[in-house]
Amino acid sequence: MKSFNHFLREIGVSNDLRSLLYHIARSIKYINFAIRAGDTGLNKSCNPSGEDQLKLDVMSDKIIEKELENSELAKIIASEEQEEPKKFQAPRGSFAIAYDPLDGSSLVDANLAIGSIFGIWPGDNFLGQTGNDMVAACYGLYGPRITFVIAIKNLGTHEFELNDVGEFILTRKNLKIIADSKYFAPGNLKVCSENINYKNLVDIWMNEPKKLRYSGGMTPDLHHILSKGQGQFTYPCCQKHKNGKLRLLFECDPFSFIFSEAGGIAKNQYGTNILDIKIKEIHQKTSIFIGSKNEVEKSIKIMNK
Ligand code: F6P
Repeated sequence: MKSFNHFLREIGVSNDLRSLLYHIARSIKYINFAIRAGDTGLNKSCNPSGEDQLKLDVMSDKIIEKELENSELAKIIASEEQEEPKKFQAPRGSFAIAYDPLDGSSLVDANLAIGSIFGIWPGDNFLGQTGNDMVAACYGLYGPRITFVIAIKNLGTHEFELNDVGEFILTRKNLKIIADSKYFAPGNLKVCSENINYKNLVDIWMNEPKKLRYSGGMTPDLHHILSKGQGQFTYPCCQKHKNGKLRLLFECDPFSFIFSEAGGIAKNQYGTNILDIKIKEIHQKTSIFIGSKNEVEKSIKIMNK
């Protein structure tokens, strides 16, 4: 039974990064409490991508912002729920943290699993960096159990679980994703009526047959892949979302980093590695095909016929 701090020290994670992750872990515990005890209604506002915000989205955002400011390690933060990044004094360190406070919040009323996603870059600016520059990424998953998954550059992807006394305990170290898979998680299926290649791809999966595992929440859907060690999640562009719907900084880069540390891969539908995409805007979007290497490569080929 190893606490996450003990484990991270053992594998050689720096004091600064461990301290930052400690504050992120605290925010996940507070958000978990807010989900269970708080108001799950609408906030009557929209986020910068035009999506309805729940009171829980706003509350989770505030919880994370406060924790990151208190860490004194965050020079700049960017939230999916806020138009502009915020800068802090951060006398103790120099990290740039992008986060989606409550991914999949439209599933809250249905009591499905949701998550919080974090990407951690060095320095005091996101623009001009790529996902390859990240030093760590992590997510909290609020399901029947509370899971915390952390990936550290060149040190792998590891899973922890919240115990009854409020500690995250190591459950699985060095999670790995194999190259072939029997699962598929097809987002944005309406693209099948606009793009014959996506329809053909989904038909192939159904005829193989592969097993469908899709909840509508990126965090639980990607955690399923990581947990089973195989699978593929896809979210292509469509007429409504010409550059894709999912956000590079808040969703796609963190998960691409976490998957790449586990031996998986993430590309946009045109075959560019997500981690190679230069960050030009805070709310930049992309298509994403992520998961088992061979499966993603096959899909990209079919998407570009
Ligand atoms: O906004 C993010 C998100 O909720 C993801 O968690 C999920 O994978 C995706 O959007 C679902 O999109 P749609 O509502 O278009 O199916």
